[in-house]
Amino acid sequence: SEALLTLNPHFVVGPLNRRIFGSFVEHMGRCVYTGIYEPDHPSADEHGFRGDVAELVVELGATIVRYPGGNFVSNYRWEDGVGPREDRPTRLDLAWRSIETNQVGTDDFLGWCERLGIEPMMAMNLGTRGLAEAIELVQYTNADPGTDVADRRGANGRTEPWDVRVWCLGNEMDGPWQMGAKTAEEYARLAEEVGRALKRFDPTLELVACGSSNRAMPTFGAWERIVLDRAFDHVDHISAHAYYEPHGGDVDSFLASGEDMDRFISSVVATADHIAAVKQSDKRVMVSFDEWNVWFAERFPGEPSLEFEEGRELIRDVYSVLDAVVVGSLLITLMRHTDRVSMACQAQLVNVIAPILTVPGGPAWRQTIFHPFALTAAHARGVVLSVGGDIPSVATAAYGAVDQVWSTATWDSASGALTVFAVNRSRTEGCQLDLDLSAFGDLEIREHLTLHDDDHAATNTRDDPERVVPRPGRSSLEDGHLRSTLPAVSWHCIRLD
Ligand code: AHR
Repeated sequence: SEALLTLNPHFVVGPLNRRIFGSFVEHMGRCVYTGIYEPDHPSADEHGFRGDVAELVVELGATIVRYPGGNFVSNYRWEDGVGPREDRPTRLDLAWRSIETNQVGTDDFLGWCERLGIEPMMAMNLGTRGLAEAIELVQYTNADPGTDVADRRGANGRTEPWDVRVWCLGNEMDGPWQMGAKTAEEYARLAEEVGRALKRFDPTLELVACGSSNRAMPTFGAWERIVLDRAFDHVDHISAHAYYEPHGGDVDSFLASGEDMDRFISSVVATADHIAAVKQSDKRVMVSFDEWNVWFAERFPGEPSLEFEEGRELIRDVYSVLDAVVVGSLLITLMRHTDRVSMACQAQLVNVIAPILTVPGGPAWRQTIFHPFALTAAHARGVVLSVGGDIPSVATAAYGAVDQVWSTATWDSASGALTVFAVNRSRTEGCQLDLDLSAFGDLEIREHLTLHDDDHAATNTRDDPERVVPRPGRSSLEDGHLRSTLPAVSWHCIRLD
């Protein structure tokens, strides 16, 4: 089949939000302990953080990282994780039934972010805790020295404020699994109160209200309406979370997961703008897609035992070529919505469900899904362009007929760099891409990298960590038309200037 597409430098969706290349560190499984932090590891720095993991995180290009959860945050006492390590209490974490030693906490995480040049996105506990603790936490990280809470930070070794800009007002408060889950009305009132108080401390903070845990939640849509109706004036973003897998082995629908994310974003934007209309406001609440990834939840049997354990593995998903193509397509979806998606966090960063795997005391390596993320974060620049044309479709059980080729492009007029991202979402059919670029004048192909393998199930392992890596793709440019070969189940990054 053949896809005939056209790009034009004047058809701009909006400036690329680099915060969509975010990630997520939760106290869950081995994400923190023996993930980013392992003081006895040969590569550990003086703060106890693994150097080999830090290098991979920088290579991944994560721009913003959410912390400390996730479900974990909803029974977390932030005070436990600051101050001298030997004085920090060990507690039971009820979210993941593990033993939390608190050897990593707020200051440790914020210091790690600062050293790596990553922006932090902090979540607060609105499950077992509330307004008073939220106000104290934000003052602890952000207030100038001279008052009690800020001086506690100073006593713990950090005088100047961390100045955390982005705060999540709880996590998945619509989910019955959440510690302290709430009805939409209860949460709306709490988000309004916390939002109002935090904006009185600093009106420039960016606050994220909890949206729905996924699009299939029974309260989806009504939740966003009720929460924003109440908290509209005090929040800037509303969250969306989504995890994808081949439900019941339905690979065709799995390959089209971007369709679900696309409809999810459009529905939340419509709801937010409806509230704005009712309030006669021009304010645009943005979508923070602060948890997304492929996650084989159907394979997750729950905690391996009901015993509380320290440092247990919990989940360790290993990703294939197929999964990497889906991850690439989800990034394309996020970019296509750059006008309304302000932030996005792939969940999670290390181990559990992540692009990086580690062995305690041993190596760290890149999963297949590392590559589309790293290449997109490295080469997407400038503005996102809308792309349209004549595209063959593939049939899916979950979403009906969807475009076989899912694509976007960024254009950096200053450097003249045009980068095309495309996925062939067919499980069986290759496709020829014909992309009309004549509106850009003279261009040359710099590089075409693809993530594809005849074995869609191929993975990277400790023994063979480079089994799946980006390889050169096939493209030519003639008479202003880019012609590329897109095999079935393939992701592409084509750079021109
Ligand atoms: O990322 C894993 C978990 O998925 C998070 O803790 C929770 O917010 C979501 O349900």
